[in-house]
Amino acid sequence: MSYSTPIRYKIAEAEDVNEMEQIHRLNYQTFVEEIPQHQANETRTLIDRFNNENTYIIAKRKDEVIGMISVKENRPFSLDQKLTNLDDYLADDSVPCEIRLLSIKEAYRGGRIFYGLCERLVAYCLEKGYSLALISGTVQQTKLYKHMGFQSFGPLVGTEKARYQPMYLTKKNFEISSKVFQRLIERKEKTFYQNFLPGPVEVTEEVKKAWQEPAISHRSLIIQKVINEVKVQLCDLTNANYTEVIVGTGTLANDMVAAQLSTLKSKGLILANGEFGERLIDHGNRWSLSFENIHKPWNTSITIEEIDRTLMKYPDIQWLWTVHCETSTGYVYPLHQLKEVCEKHDVYLCIDGCSSVGVIPVDLKDVYLASTVSGKGLASYPGIAIVFHHEGILPNEQIPSYLDIGKYQASNSVPYTHSSNGLLALQKALSNPHAANDALANKICRDFESSGMLVLRGKGIRQE
Ligand SMILES: Cc1ncc(COP(=O)(O)O)c(C=O)c1O
Repeated sequence: MSYSTPIRYKIAEAEDVNEMEQIHRLNYQTFVEEIPQHQANETRTLIDRFNNENTYIIAKRKDEVIGMISVKENRPFSLDQKLTNLDDYLADDSVPCEIRLLSIKEAYRGGRIFYGLCERLVAYCLEKGYSLALISGTVQQTKLYKHMGFQSFGPLVGTEKARYQPMYLTKKNFEISSKVFQRLIERKEKTFYQNFLPGPVEVTEEVKKAWQEPAISHRSLIIQKVINEVKVQLCDLTNANYTEVIVGTGTLANDMVAAQLSTLKSKGLILANGEFGERLIDHGNRWSLSFENIHKPWNTSITIEEIDRTLMKYPDIQWLWTVHCETSTGYVYPLHQLKEVCEKHDVYLCIDGCSSVGVIPVDLKDVYLASTVSGKGLASYPGIAIVFHHEGILPNEQIPSYLDIGKYQASNSVPYTHSSNGLLALQKALSNPHAANDALANKICRDFESSGMLVLRGKGIRQE
């Protein structure tokens, strides 16, 4: 059998008629023609009685389904019907699933496809949080199952013609049962721990310790000092003129930017090519701002030339608001060129830097307003919203007090209760702003290297 065509392992899609039909045919070949469990029929397909509850993991070669295995999490299991006191054998806190219908086309038997299906299966079970996988292992294959780490329990079940041994597999047994499987499981778990979502991020031990300090009054001199230091750290990092630190998240910081823009009473332009650009449009709509937008499908580039043309077409536009890094896709707008085009058209530039500040260089010099947040690139805990502003801002009674940047500036960012834990942790994170990112980058490099890849380290990544 030629294996030149790659095999794909995936979860079958219930809506994919072709995949499902092939599954039912494979089911028939194995569990009617090969292991005589069910009556033959003319259609030569067998729809499993739990079909609607099964998740099928399949191996596909081009469009052909060549192997499958099914997982079911809802009771009753098929084994419940064979072994009425199944629960007597299970630990109280176990989260079991049932694995059935292992079937591989004859030409593909002999290991590779089986391992591939198991690998995908293990990943799926870990993802779902199952602690135990149950099978009714056909007695002809008990040896193979034991080799994989399955343990027998209870009496043999089934009929004279088809005898089964109830068996279970725990993650631990699976791990120690064979080196091959152990490697598979380690590879899968790495995928789980390397979380590339924008937050929560890993924080250093010092940041953890700072967060755990007993809460201090936000009116105390200590907190005023901390705030002053945090502000200097933030302005140094971004080249901004002013910054305010507020109890809240990035969305709050963006609402504050929108509130401030509403006071300009002029038209703007919002860019969107992903989730967070679209949220800026949503902020704009909720604040009834008057604006044009360049709104494109996710990850479609929005060029400086297009922005230039739009600003040319609408000379009444006075501000431009965009994400710097579009978190949903990783698309980064060229900040320097945005500044140039805004300067050319005498337009205020506003930046959502929630997932760029602390991650890539962000120079906010000449940026009118910008937002970021403590719990992402700055590698502290979530909870402190950050707004940068180019000019001094006075309090404005047209804006709800909690969102009024001017009010924060007038009271050194403490118009209301503040979070000393959040501030102390942020102060610590900012004292070494690259620590957490470097640690993660180095870990990723090590993992790539240990899998035999050559890693070309850019200047931004410090060597350990
Ligand atoms: C670019 C960007 N803007 C805004 C937000 C919203 O931030 P939060 O969830 O802290 O309110 C996020 C969150 O990931 C983001 O990535």
